[in-house]
Amino acid sequence: MSVERIDKIIASQGTLSRNEVKKLIRANLVRVNGQAVKKSDEKYETSDIIIEIDGVLQTFKKNIYIMLNKPQGVICASRDPKAKTAVDLVPKELQRKGLFPAGRLDADTTGFVLITDDGDFAHRILSPKNRVKKTYKATLAQPLSSADIKRIEDGIKLADGTRCLDAQVKVIEQNEKVVAQIKICEGKYHQVKRMFAAVGNNVVELKRTAIGNVELDPNLLSGECRELTKEELESIENTN
Ligand code: URA
Repeated sequence: MSVERIDKIIASQGTLSRNEVKKLIRANLVRVNGQAVKKSDEKYETSDIIIEIDGVLQTFKKNIYIMLNKPQGVICASRDPKAKTAVDLVPKELQRKGLFPAGRLDADTTGFVLITDDGDFAHRILSPKNRVKKTYKATLAQPLSSADIKRIEDGIKLADGTRCLDAQVKVIEQNEKVVAQIKICEGKYHQVKRMFAAVGNNVVELKRTAIGNVELDPNLLSGECRELTKEELESIENTN
């Protein structure tokens, strides 16, 4: 349960500034749960709130969950003085305060980044103990042997001695290119690259294709975003 000022609740949705909301309230154009709002500092419970602005019903979302198809060169951060960030790619209509990428991809890794303003949710999908798998497609410099696969799947020791949790590896192409799919449920620094390096291989290209059982939308072009559907959000934490 959370109780907030009405101007803050409306502005949190990203389309109106706090000052714009205040003006609308002064002009008597805002109704909450059927009643006219008289002052900007009136407080309301955010869970079941019904907001109308100038007679138009607003859809209020406490939090937002965005799928980004990250291009190369973009960093997984909210803001950066020099580089373009994942949050910079969120279109204006989905922007709101407090957005951050739930987990990091390297600047040269592409694919699914989940951007949200829900810290508890991010923690749940990132915590290795919840076993939400992250799926990657890795283009490798060398062929992958069954012995390499077994070592990675059993929980490989990285060059610095760090032991990884178990993983699932499948070769999906081994002709002109060597491409493997790998599923891991933790997110150590450069983890996939270091796991393949530990069997003497080298990742030449890396793309995250799924988080949990939610696949990167094939209709999202590189750099594009969309909100997760209700069904995707409900199923992302399922580990079956
Ligand atoms: N593992 C890596 O090595 N890099 C990433 O960007 C993600 C996982």
